[in-house]
Amino acid sequence: MTLATDFLHALPKVELHMHIEGSLEPELMFRLAQRNNITLPYDSVDALRQAYDFSNLQSFLDLYYQGANVLQTEQDFFDLTWAYLQRCHEQNVEHVEIFFDPQTHTDRGIPFETVINGLTQALAQGEQQLGISHGLILCFLRHLSEESALETLEQAKPFREKILGIGLDSSELGHPPEKFQRAFAAAQAQGYKLVAHAGEEGPAEYIWQALDLLKVQRIDHGVACLQDPELVAHLAEHQIPLTVCPNSNVRLRVFDTMADHNLKTLLDKDLKVTLNSDDPAYFGGYMLENYVNVQEALNLSKEQWLKLSANAIDASFASDARKAQLYQQLMELF
Ligand code: ADE
Ligand code: ZN
Repeated sequence: MTLATDFLHALPKVELHMHIEGSLEPELMFRLAQRNNITLPYDSVDALRQAYDFSNLQSFLDLYYQGANVLQTEQDFFDLTWAYLQRCHEQNVEHVEIFFDPQTHTDRGIPFETVINGLTQALAQGEQQLGISHGLILCFLRHLSEESALETLEQAKPFREKILGIGLDSSELGHPPEKFQRAFAAAQAQGYKLVAHAGEEGPAEYIWQALDLLKVQRIDHGVACLQDPELVAHLAEHQIPLTVCPNSNVRLRVFDTMADHNLKTLLDKDLKVTLNSDDPAYFGGYMLENYVNVQEALNLSKEQWLKLSANAIDASFASDARKAQLYQQLMELF
């Protein structure tokens, strides 16, 4: 690694792909379990961490949904989000667009309002006290029905102004984007920004569907695009952002090791790649840990780090004024 960690730490960062439920650290999970009188099926924080040995996306999702059961009250959602924002602050993450999965909570009887109030109060405090700007992206769980997604969109209506966009996550294989065409059309009619996970474990065809049928503005993951040269040309021509999550891809065995990751190829093909942490509590760290692991394995140049950082600013849904501020911070380093 020729570039120092100090440089990677100093880069002003924008995170566009992070599931707030995936930032639930084992320590906080145990604390919330105790506070809410829930018994976890693990004896200790260490035992829980040891279970984080995943063979694919589904093996992770099973633990991720189980972990989310400790989130019960507005205070729990606040504490979760505040902990994430403090990590952001330590790592010079200046703008975040975070995912939340309301169905994971409403299906267990937690009101939508409880979730959104806790999240938005922490985000507002993060803006005031830490200067971190933010947006919230509501993700539909794709293993559930489109009817359930449409119901969730209805539940979100009273909170429309608090939610920036709509996304699509959970088990990809067998749940193609086309399943959610009506729900995304309804979201588009309500003026939401649109994104979707596609081409993480699923094929390039799912990326086409997300673009053509769901009309998304960004692809979350998208690393499978290299299977299809026409798709690569399309993504490059239209500079459609890919929110790539390197640690996640290695932990979920999309790539065997970081050295095998296709990030450099994506950059070489002039794709609009950004780096993100996905589920930092489960995948070995936050933005900086992703940057450091990428650098150790792939040894990117300073220009490539500048490009990745600029891509994330461009790909964000921040206002032009905020983007200009972020650019200015970035240019001060170069
Ligand atoms: N939910 C949380 N993390 C996810 C991921 N990496 N892919 C799909 N759904 C998710
Ligand atoms: Zn994700």
